[in-house]
This record gives sequence, structure tokens and C-alpha cells, in this order.
Amino acid sequence: MAARGVGLLTRLPLHSQRRSRVQRSIPRHFSCPGTVAANFGSEEQPLDGSEDKIPKKRFSEVQKERREQAQRTVLIHCPNNINEKKFLKYLSQHGPINKHFFYESFGFYAVVEFCQKDSVNSLQSEAHTPNMSTESAIPFKSRFLNLKLKNLSNKIPEQLCAQTSNQSPPSSKKLFELLNYAESIDDQLHTLLKTFQLTEENVRLRHLTCSLIEDIAAAYFPGCVIRPFGSSVNTFGKLGCDLDMFLDLDEIRKPNVHKNAGNFLMEFQVKNVPSERIATQKILSVIGECLDNFGPGCVGVQKILNARCPLVRFSHQASGFQCDLTTNNSIALKSSELLYIYGSLDSRVRALVFSVRCWARAHSLTSSIPGAWITNFSLTVMVIFFLQRRSPPILPTLDSLKSLAELLLKEFFEYFGNFAFNKNSINIRQGREQNKPDSSPLHIQNPFETSLNISKNVSQSQLQKFVDLARDSAWILEQEDKGQPSPSSKQPWGLAALLLPPGTAYPSLSKKKKKLMSEKVKGLLASIKSSSTDISKGTHGKRAISTQA
Ligand code: CTP
Ligand code: MG
Repeated sequence: MAARGVGLLTRLPLHSQRRSRVQRSIPRHFSCPGTVAANFGSEEQPLDGSEDKIPKKRFSEVQKERREQAQRTVLIHCPNNINEKKFLKYLSQHGPINKHFFYESFGFYAVVEFCQKDSVNSLQSEAHTPNMSTESAIPFKSRFLNLKLKNLSNKIPEQLCAQTSNQSPPSSKKLFELLNYAESIDDQLHTLLKTFQLTEENVRLRHLTCSLIEDIAAAYFPGCVIRPFGSSVNTFGKLGCDLDMFLDLDEIRKPNVHKNAGNFLMEFQVKNVPSERIATQKILSVIGECLDNFGPGCVGVQKILNARCPLVRFSHQASGFQCDLTTNNSIALKSSELLYIYGSLDSRVRALVFSVRCWARAHSLTSSIPGAWITNFSLTVMVIFFLQRRSPPILPTLDSLKSLAELLLKEFFEYFGNFAFNKNSINIRQGREQNKPDSSPLHIQNPFETSLNISKNVSQSQLQKFVDLARDSAWILEQEDKGQPSPSSKQPWGLAALLLPPGTAYPSLSKKKKKLMSEKVKGLLASIKSSSTDISKGTHGKRAISTQA
């Protein structure tokens, strides 16, 4: 494995090819000078680690920029054989365009970011509410629009249709191909990261979706903010992950110190309810109704108000995102920032987390349905804890850097395959184990609300499954260490072998199983001999096995 460690520094050519195809170059006269779009198609500095680069900006700065960018953006449902050039020319009547891309999800969509917010208002003033012949439309002016072709000359032949940006992860077949052709396990870890991490376009679409929901919520609560949190912003999101967002009313609540100088204090007249929880339930209930009745593209709205953390769950059909909307969730935003910081400390953190998340998904340790399973968030905290506890700590010498990335995965499995879950709790605040305060099978302390266990839902059997799989996986990686992988081999190896769904035979594992089986057969033969010759059991067993061996 001469190339081990090299993957840390290289970029996947396939990935960069895909990206450069997707990013559409804007004719100069449509773009605004001095903005990112002026260099569109060239290397763009990602703002939030959505690329395999270590993010350099502060979390709050990134969120602010993304929010502002989303406010200048519109989502347009278009015919898929639209003439891209004419489309851009038509839109640029409202002002210069900074960036655009197309994608498919229950239809063909364009995301168009103008340079100025005014252009959005101008475009909206031109749009009208459709006249339905059989149904009745509820008028709602949003930034989610429909484009109709009046003139067939705006159509182009199918083969010249605009390129679309891919919003979903690759098929398992494609993934296994990519992994098998990697040069080392380290290379596989980074391939997995590059293949699954959120793309620039996907990140934009997530912020745009929050911004569109904010417009709807603002109808009730002017001045509110919808903030994304969780894996959409913490740099650990996999393509296809849900979109967690919360309604932030702090801007409305905040006392305006400057304007309240003097002898008088002016307050808003408000309604009072007995508790904060009831207030949350009432607010989410009304927003849920609003999304259900008037929210363009919002379907399957469920109000889950009796949960510990009340939420509204819905699908945003146009973006394809499964959304969870909560309120008053600034602690979760802090956790997202903490993970963002950890992800930016060392590029191996994200590579390791992605591999562990994919491994857990392949073995059904995690699920998109709520239940007694380990969540991706818990897994990420476990990886961080492991990196805090391992010796030497995460920043190694240059010499050890070479083989460290692939070693980490094996060590992670060994570490948690042997962790004393029965008595210890995981505490990343202090970076050490602690006695468990209760009898939950898995106890991971919430770093910001220390009395809470983030994995309270996990059952004993799910934890046991995790431990067993971790031990098996450590064993598989141990075998890889002993042999050279053959990149052209059709046989899944390294990470690919770990990601095989349950029940799929892995050559080394079946060897192990075969070995165990032959031990059992030997034992059985020994006991048969023992009963036929009537020799004392222990002594005979040993002799019988030694003669067989
Ligand atoms: N969270 C928390 N405590 C929990 C569960 C979740 O604080 N017990 C917060 C974390 O900040 C987490 C966010 O809520 O990142 C969203 O939760 P979830 O969607 O379950 O996890 P993600 O990190 O978003 O991962 P995934 O990609 O699976 O959605
Ligand atoms: Mg999530």
C-alpha cells in the first residue's frame, strides 16, 4: 500500500469534472462585476466547507452570508427544454444575475441568484396568480415561481437542454466502483467524503428553502428568522439528509435599547400563555396550518407537538427536502457550530465521520425513521470523543500522518468495540468518560445542556448491534492491513467491504466464519470421541483437538 496517506492531499479528478460541468458560466453582461459570478466557473472558495476544504470563515459569518444570498434568490419551475440563454436574458431585465443552476426533483427547476434584492421585487411585480379552470388558487406572492413558454422559439431540442446539478448521492453500484478503484483505505475515506458531502448547489438550495419558509412564517411573525441547523450547516451533511430549521423569534423579542432611552418604556401588547412549551406549541401549530394551506411546494405537513421538542415535519416538494421545523432551538444551533469547528480543525475528522455514518447506514444501525437506533448526531459526537481520547491526540507528527487516516477508522471501531458502555457516559465537553448518571444503554452528554442524554432513545439491542458490528469491522480492517488490495479487483475491499449490506458475503469474514465453524466441528468430534472412549472430558477434549490439528 505504497500510496497510503497520499489521498489526504489529492483531489478526485472525477469529482472536479462533474462540478465544472454543473456550474454554468454566465455571459458577462448578465453578471455583476466584482462578485463571485464574475469568475463563475473558475475555482470558487466555498463558504461553509461544502467542499473538501477546511472552512476558514466563522460559523456565524457563513450563516449570515448564506442567508443574505438566499434572500436575493428565486426558485423557478421551468419546462425542461428551455433555452437557457434566452431564459437568462429575460430574467436579467430585472437586474444582473450572480449565479444560477438547474436541477430536477418532481420537475425541472432553476435557482437564480440576483445581485440585488430589488431585482426579486421587480420580477415578483411582473408575475401574476394563475387562473385555474377547475380549481381555485389561493393568491400568494412568494419567490417560488412558475415559468410558462408563450413562444415555441424559447424551446430547444432535448439534447441541448441545460445541464442539471445532481442533488442525490450516487447509486451503490457507482459507489462500490469508485471505492474499489481507490489506491488505499485512506483514499477510500476521502472518496466517500467527496461523493457524499453536500455540494455547493445543495447548500444553496437548503438556505433558499429556509428563506422561502421564512417568507411564509413572516406573514404571522414579521421580523422572524428561519435558521437552518444540524447536518445542513455543520459540514457533516450527506446528500439526501433532512433539513433541520428553527423559527427564531429572538429578533422580535429583543429589547431595542437605543430607542428606549428616556423616561418612558414602550411595550407591545401580547397574549400570555401558562408556559414556554405551550407558547411553542401554539406558534408551531399556526405555522403548520399555514404551510399546509398556503405554502407553495409544502406537502405532507405533520404537526408533532407533543414531542419533547415539538416540531412540524413536512416535505418541500420542489427542493426534495424532508424538513423538520422547530422553534427556540438556539442550543441545537450551538451544537451545529461546535461540530462545524471540530470539522474544520482537521480534514480527517469529516472523512472519518462520513465513513462511520455510511457504515452505520449500510448496516441499518441508523434509520431515517425515528426509533431506538443510534442517530447520526450521536455517531458524530462519538467520533469526536474518540479523537479526543486517542493517543497520540489528533494532531500527529508528519511521520505518523501518512498512515493515520486509515488507522483512525480501525481504531474507532476497536475503541467503541471495547468501550464500557454499561458504566460510562461519553462527555465531549471534558473529553473524558464519566460514570453514567442513569441506566440508559447509551449515554452521551449534550455538550450544552449537560443534564440531557442525546442518545436517550437508543435501546440495549441496538447498542449491542453497534458494538458487534464495530468489532467485526475492526477485524476486517485488520485483515486489510495484512494484505495488498488490488485496485482492479472486483472483490469489495477495505471500506467497500465494510459498507456491504448485511448478509452479503465478505471473503475474509467468511474465512473467519469458516475457521470458527471448523473449530466447532473439531470440538464436536472431540466430544464424540470422548463419550465413546469414556476418558475424562477435559483431558480428552484437548487430546482429540491436538490430534485433529
Ligand atoms: N440535536 C440535539 N440533541 C439530540 C438530537 C439532535 O441537540 N438528541 C441537534 C443537533 O444539533 C443535531 C440537530 O439537532 O445536529 C439535528 O438533529 P438530526 O437531524 O437528528 O441530526 P443531524 O446532525 O442533522 O444529522 P442527519 O444528517 O442524520 O440529519
Ligand atoms: Mg438532520
